[in-house]
This record gives sequence, C-alpha cells and structure tokens, in this order.
Amino acid sequence: MSRRQVSSTRRYVDTGSFPFAGALHSKSPSSPLLSVILFLLGAFLLIGYVYNGPGIFGGGREAVSKVEGDFICTSELQRAIPILKKAYGDSMHKVLHVGPDTCSVVSKLLKEEETEAWGVEPYDIEDADANCKSLVRRGIVRVTDIKFPLPYRAKSFSLVIVSDALDYLSPKYLNKTLPELARVSANGLVIFAGHPGQQRAKVAELSKFGRPAKMRSSSWWIRYFVQTSLEENDAAIKKFEQAVTKRSYKPSCQVFHLKSYH
Ligand SMILES: *[C@@H]1O[C@H](CO)[C@@H](O)[C@H](O)[C@H]1NC(C)=O
Repeated sequence: MSRRQVSSTRRYVDTGSFPFAGALHSKSPSSPLLSVILFLLGAFLLIGYVYNGPGIFGGGREAVSKVEGDFICTSELQRAIPILKKAYGDSMHKVLHVGPDTCSVVSKLLKEEETEAWGVEPYDIEDADANCKSLVRRGIVRVTDIKFPLPYRAKSFSLVIVSDALDYLSPKYLNKTLPELARVSANGLVIFAGHPGQQRAKVAELSKFGRPAKMRSSSWWIRYFVQTSLEENDAAIKKFEQAVTKRSYKPSCQVFHLKSYH
C-alpha cells in the first residue's frame, strides 16, 4: 500500500488536481468540495503514516524492502545471467525480462556482449531512478499490467525471462499470462519462482501487488505446465544444470525452462 498511497498523495499535492474533482465540482458548491478534499488528504496522510511510520516522504524504505526480499528471484536472476548464457547461448541475443525491478535486470543484460534487452515492469515505478525513467522513455521498459495481453507481436524475443511476478497471480490470471509469455518468445521461456515458505511482500505492500504472493511447489508448477500445454525444455534444463554444477552455484529460487510455441 505504502508506495502507491504516498505517490498519489504527492501527485495530488503537486498538481492540485484530484481525480474526482471535476465530477464533484459540477454537483456541489466549492466549499463542501474543499472539505471533502481536505478530509481525503488527511485520510491519505494518516493511512500513509500508519503503514509507513514517520518516514512517509523518505526514500530510505524502498532500499530496505528490496533487501528484505520482495524481489528475491529478480536478484537471483541477475546472478544467474552467466549461467543462462551458458544454457541458452545465441538465444540470449534478444531478451525480454518480465518482473519487478526490471530496469536493473535490463541494465545488467544490456552490459552483456551481443545482448539486446527489453523489460516489462508489472508494478508501479513512481520511485524509479533517472536510469529507469530513461529506459521507460525510450520504450525499452514498459510499465504494463501482465494480466492483459502483452504489447508485442508473436516471437518478438528469442528468450523471455520472468521473475517474481507469477507468484502474485492466481491460476485464473496465470492461464492468461503464461501463454502470453510463451507467445512473445521464439526460443524459450524461463521462469524464476519462489520456493514455498519463502517470505514475500509485507501487508503494507499488498495493494502494489494486488494479492499476497503464493509460493507454489515444483510439482504444482509442473502439473500446471502440463495442464496448459506448455512443454518443459529438456535441452535447456540439461545445459542449465551442467552450468550450475560447474560453478557450484545454488539458486535460491525455482527455475523452470519451457519451450515456446511452434
Ligand atoms: C486454467 O486452464 C486449465 C487448462 O486449460 C484449466 O483446466 C483450468 O481450469 C484453468 N484454471 C482456471 C482457474 O481458470
């Protein structure tokens, strides 16, 4: 809740506009409108205070929550890039990452040789840094609700990698989103998902994600892939496992490799 609430309050204060002001205005004289606005502003500040503590306008909180692990698998993915390169080789040329904090993943991928990268950020990024804002401005990162069709043509990317975002979707939305991710990929789809028991978003963050994260077991996922006719990519699984063993790297998230549609 905190971040969206804070930013909407801030926007309201900055611009003096309130989303419903026009509607209210046509029906009521200005002084009741003013009291409504002041009341709502007060309520926003109070709620913000209760959930955030006194640091409501401070930026320090975000850094803390990331370290605490809202985005465990997104950080995991950044460590796993060399392993993914071993497993996917040429298919790492044109990558789409989908998940929170995608700006940092995309920036990291863009530093790799011969890698083009794009990102889909499923959540609010009001607090984005200048680098991230520039990626959004250039259309490299898009802020888009992944419950709806993705704004890309079929097979636009050689590889699509998703981290953390699927844990927040119910099976109903997974049914729409997973086929979409497969659709826009040409040579594979990689899923980084949390392990059951891993702690995620605190209550204060829930309105950002829509629902609490649900960590599913690997057997749940595999059954789900079969149900939705997505095939596991055995060749990629094998190469990934080999690279993992060679570097004695231990992923702290579940990593699934799926085939794109043919
Ligand atoms: C998701 O899709 C599968 C396969 O088409 C179907 O069996 C399942 O009932 C769907 N789940 C939901 C919640 O819609």
